Amino acid sequence: MMKKFLNLGLQPLANSYITRNKLNHKEKKFKLIVGFNPKNYLVSILNTIPKEKMFNDKYPYKSSESLTMKKSFKDLSVEIKKKFKPNLILEIGSNDGAFIKNFKKNCVIGVEPCKNLAKITRYKGYKTFSEYWDVSLAKKISKKKKIDVIYSANTLSHIENFSEIFKAVNLSLSDKGILILEDPSLLECIKNVAYDQFYCEHIYVFSAIALKKILDKFNFEIFDIQNTKTHGGSNRYFIKRKKNSFYKLNPNVLKNIVVEKKNGLHKFSTYKRFANKVLLSKKRLIQVVKKIKKNKKRIIGYGATAKSCTVLNYCKINDKQIDFFYDTTSYKISKFLPGSKIEVKKYKKLKKNVTDYVFLGAWNFKKEIFKKERDFIKSGGKFITHIPYPKII
Ligand code: TMP
Repeated sequence: MMKKFLNLGLQPLANSYITRNKLNHKEKKFKLIVGFNPKNYLVSILNTIPKEKMFNDKYPYKSSESLTMKKSFKDLSVEIKKKFKPNLILEIGSNDGAFIKNFKKNCVIGVEPCKNLAKITRYKGYKTFSEYWDVSLAKKISKKKKIDVIYSANTLSHIENFSEIFKAVNLSLSDKGILILEDPSLLECIKNVAYDQFYCEHIYVFSAIALKKILDKFNFEIFDIQNTKTHGGSNRYFIKRKKNSFYKLNPNVLKNIVVEKKNGLHKFSTYKRFANKVLLSKKRLIQVVKKIKKNKKRIIGYGATAKSCTVLNYCKINDKQIDFFYDTTSYKISKFLPGSKIEVKKYKKLKKNVTDYVFLGAWNFKKEIFKKERDFIKSGGKFITHIPYPKII
């Protein structure tokens, strides 16, 4: 039974950017409520949206927009080649190919249901199936040759039916084959009061203790965990069949579990405390923005992320406070953020004569962005962030 702990209000679909001619149309909204399951420690949103409504032929998010993500995928591919020497690799949710492009074309397969993205990798010569990962696709792909490494980053959190996923993985992995999952870490989300990790597509934010329980049901187990910096702090789980004794259990697994328990991720009271902090964060962000607007200063946004959608709609911040957002993603440019209806403009290097304050929508790329915008910062330009608590930097 799910126990509710956080109500983020009525929210539009986070990646449904609005075209100018549809600005006056009524948007579809849903109640964004987050709950905790004390039995399996899983944290998830309670009202889910049919996947076909979110992952279609107009999916705007591209992994390759960020240098941080490109580097992270490249480094991981080097590690995979060295450690596991796979003959065949498959990525579930291959997006625009930021990961698979690091492998030879004849030894990697992409699976990407969003047709606009699958088209990109297919065009570049990578075998890509534009379908949802399921048992029938797994059978089709692995009929002749089993897969040695299945990788999936920021995708399992989007998929409601675990059973189908893990059955398909089990069917298609070779005897020594492994699964690598990478998703935002619940511990980091709680520590950073990053409530914007919750939106329609992020059904779950995983902890190691919850994933362990889920995998148990399907006879899989985690044999290593790496804590990475991507997406505001993620965990990369290395998973094998329980009967596969080829890989030893790394002490990192127990270490992560102990830390998560120390931080109370197995207790409902932790989530109630988190919800109180979220409420405080909202109040404080509204105050910060109000004060700037009272002084008649301009605010623009940086990185029109799906996460921003949760923040802006929860805090009821709109185009009266934030003039526009800069973003590098061509699909988002000249459209409007769902709910808040703030325009997204083509990215230009920040200049103090354009704005004094910049709301950091893409806070998960803070390091990369601050490096890129050092001239703006040097000239006295300021950023507003809500992570870990609302402040001006
Ligand atoms: P994400 O937080 O969901 O990964 O989305 C990041 C968004 O931020 C994506 O739309 C691209 C955008 N972005 C920029 O516009 N400039 C940048 O320098 C970076 C790193 C990201």
